[in-house]
Amino acid sequence: MKILYLNSSGGLGGAEVCLLDMIASLKQEHPEWTFGLITAQDGPLVSRAAALGVTTRVLPLPPRLSRLGDSKRASGMPGKIKLGLQLAASVFPVRAWSRQLHQAIEEFAPDLIHSNTLKMHVLGSFANRTRRPLIWHLHDYIGSRPFMRRALRFCRNRCTAVLANSNSVRDDARHILNRRTGNDELGGPEVLTVYNAVDLNEFSPHGPAANLDALCGLQPPAAPVVRVGLLATMAWWKGHRDFIEALDVLQAEAIRGYMIGGPLYESVGSQESLDDLKALSAELGLQDQFGFTGFVEKPAEVIRALDIVVHASTRPEPFGRVVVEAMACGKPVITTALGGAAELVSIGDNALNYQAGEVEKLTLRIFELARSPQLRQKLGSAGRETAEKKFDRRRLGKQLGDAYSKAKVGRKF
Ligand code: GLC
Repeated sequence: MKILYLNSSGGLGGAEVCLLDMIASLKQEHPEWTFGLITAQDGPLVSRAAALGVTTRVLPLPPRLSRLGDSKRASGMPGKIKLGLQLAASVFPVRAWSRQLHQAIEEFAPDLIHSNTLKMHVLGSFANRTRRPLIWHLHDYIGSRPFMRRALRFCRNRCTAVLANSNSVRDDARHILNRRTGNDELGGPEVLTVYNAVDLNEFSPHGPAANLDALCGLQPPAAPVVRVGLLATMAWWKGHRDFIEALDVLQAEAIRGYMIGGPLYESVGSQESLDDLKALSAELGLQDQFGFTGFVEKPAEVIRALDIVVHASTRPEPFGRVVVEAMACGKPVITTALGGAAELVSIGDNALNYQAGEVEKLTLRIFELARSPQLRQKLGSAGRETAEKKFDRRRLGKQLGDAYSKAKVGRKF
């Protein structure tokens, strides 16, 4: 089978790393299959896919289009009007770009198209004029996206089936895509959960660990410290500020905090600025105890260097790949456990939780874990077990291969 992936970003966010995992596991399961990838932006995703033997092609989106997005913090009326005007101004560039995408699809002549990002679900649906089987893979909620939920509902009959990264995302998608309207008997495409998975050899308790202090330009500590990190894209809802504030309360303890990750997205208003976060940490006097690594190539090495991983998302997390990566490395996780992230952990067994936004509670959890190496050890090894049972990458290839084979001949999942 010939599979073509569509992804708007060329960077390595959670959805893109998952895409690389999907391809690697499918190659293991079906060595005879061939894979292509079209992105709307160049970047490390493209080179990493090429290294896996994928035929890659970059079709740059006009900048006006790549900056468009509806995942901003505020979506009051002026914001909506602005987005509406921007969309109206994008009609012609979209049509021209969609023609190019159509040609690129036909040149690759895939048996199935798998689109991996919201923008590509819409753009791909229109560019797929020859109606090849098309799978949308949802890594995000659509219900809270004022434009996307309408756009996806509008083109839902152009897509063969939908994959969701958690039951929580699946239920949200069903609500939008499967809602029946008077004369629409179909009720939209089938939506199936396929949990992400990681390479358990790469994300493992054993292997090289990064020197976090050197990465952040911090002096080595004079006495041993407990290292606590938050790994995330810079999306505004990942709880960066809560994490910094919690570390502020813990200033007197032998604890160091690390913010791991850098900006990835082009859509305006969708992310925190690294400079603002650095300014906040300096304002709180945390400069000797809190470091910023920026984007890291090898997250497993960074996780291995931490004692505690914090996942502080302030709104429901579609999946929470970092939680699984941390568990696979045998690290204790503190999470807000909202949305899909709640499906990954068993609180008290392999993770601790706190109510999103309650910085005091987060502080207490960090303190509790920082002073108990036994608890860290217990949660960490239970986490590794969970990762081995539920999030082994070898499961992915089989599950996806099955879904593709069914979608190709129009059978239900
Ligand atoms: C998106 C989601 C994140 C998930 C990732 C991979 O980035 O926000 O929760 O882990 O996709 O599915």
